[in-house]
Amino acid sequence: MLRMAAVGCGYWGPNLIRNFNNHPDVELVAICDLDAKRRAHMSGLYPQALVTDTFADVINDTSIQAVVVATPVSTHFPLGKAVLESGKHLFIEKPMAASADECRQLVNIAKTKNLQVMVGHTFLFVPAVRMIKDLIRDGELGDIYYVNIQRVNLGIFQKDVNVVWDLVPHDVAMLNYLFDSTPTRVSATGQCFVQREKELEDVAFVTLEYPQGQMAHLHVSWLDPNKIRNATFVGSKKMVVYDDVAMTDKIRIFDKGVDVMPHYDGYGEFHLAYRHGDILIPKIDQVEPLKVETSHFIDCVMGRDVSLSNGALGLQVVEVLEKACASIKDGGKPQELTFAKV
Ligand SMILES: NC(=O)c1ccc[n+]([C@@H]2O[C@H](COP(=O)([O-])OP(=O)(O)OC[C@H]3O[C@@H](n4cnc5c(N)ncnc54)[C@H](O)[C@@H]3O)[C@@H](O)[C@H]2O)c1
Repeated sequence: MLRMAAVGCGYWGPNLIRNFNNHPDVELVAICDLDAKRRAHMSGLYPQALVTDTFADVINDTSIQAVVVATPVSTHFPLGKAVLESGKHLFIEKPMAASADECRQLVNIAKTKNLQVMVGHTFLFVPAVRMIKDLIRDGELGDIYYVNIQRVNLGIFQKDVNVVWDLVPHDVAMLNYLFDSTPTRVSATGQCFVQREKELEDVAFVTLEYPQGQMAHLHVSWLDPNKIRNATFVGSKKMVVYDDVAMTDKIRIFDKGVDVMPHYDGYGEFHLAYRHGDILIPKIDQVEPLKVETSHFIDCVMGRDVSLSNGALGLQVVEVLEKACASIKDGGKPQELTFAKV
C-alpha cells in the first residue's frame, strides 16, 4: 500500500482525493488545508485520515510516501519543493509552478532524489482525447492543418493567475501529446476587464505553431455566457469536432474536405472538389479521466509505468505560458519557443 496525503481541498482537490482514496493500492492518511470549513467537510468524508491545517504534519511524517498538491498556483513551488525534499513523490496540479525556473528546480530535485513528479494535465487521460490521438496516429485525418479550441465560461476567476495560466495549460499539454511535439512559436492578445487592478487578463486569444505546420488557435475566457469546451481539428482527409461538455457524442468525425483536382480542359489548371461524406459518432469509454490519471500516477510510483505527464511536460507548458504572456504585454508580437532538455 502507498501511504498518501493531500494538500489543498478547495474546488479541485476533493476530486483527486476521492479517486486516490478509491485506488486499491492507496491508503489516504492525511489531508491538509488552511480553511477550517474545508477541513470540517473532509473530516466528515474521510474519518480515517488526519485532517490538519499544518503542512509540517504531512512533511514530517516519514511514513507518507506521496503527496497530492491542489492549492493555488502561487503556492505550488514552495509546497512541491518541500514535498520532494522530504523524499516523497509528488502529484501537483497544473500549471506545475508559477515560473519556468521554479519548474526546473522541481524537476531537478525529483531527479536527484529519484522521485516521481507528475502534473495534473487531465486531458491526457480523457478517452475522447486518446481517441483523437489514435485517429491522428493512424492517418485517418490526414495532415492536421489547424485546430480551433474554445475554453470559455463565466468564471471561475482565479485570484493569483490570469486566464492564460489557468486554462491554456490544458490545451498546450493536450496538443503536445496529440502532435508528439512542442510548439515553435506563440503569439497572444488579451485584456483585463474585471480584475484590472491586479492586471489579470480574463480573456485571451492565443495562437500556437507546431513544427509540421499545424496551427492552433485558443480562445480562453472567464467572461462568457456559455460553458464551452470545444475543439475542431481540421485535417487534409477528415475533420473532428470534440465537445467536452456533451454528455454523449463527444466526438464527431466528418468525412469532409476539399480536394484539388486537375482541370479537364486546361493543362496545369486545377479546380476544387468539395467532399461532403458521412459523419461518424464513435462510441467512447465512459471512464472518469481522473480515475485514469490517478491510477497512472500510482503505476509510475510503483515502477509499473512511465509517466505521460512528467515534470518535463509541466515545464514545457509553463515555458509556453510565460511566452504567451510576454506576447500579450508586447501587443501580440510572436515569441519564438525553444525548449532546453531537462
Ligand atoms: N486539472 C484540472 O482540470 C483542474 C481543474 C481545476 C483546478 N485545477 C488546479 O487545481 C489547483 C487548485 O485549484 P482550485 O480551483 O481547487 O482552488 P481553490 O482555491 O478552490 O482551492 C485551493 C485550496 O487550497 C487551500 N490552500 C491554499 N494554500 C494552502 C496551503 N499553503 N496549505 C494548505 N492548503 C492551502 C485553500 O484553503 C483552498 O481550500 C490549481 O492549481 C488549479 O489550476 C485543475
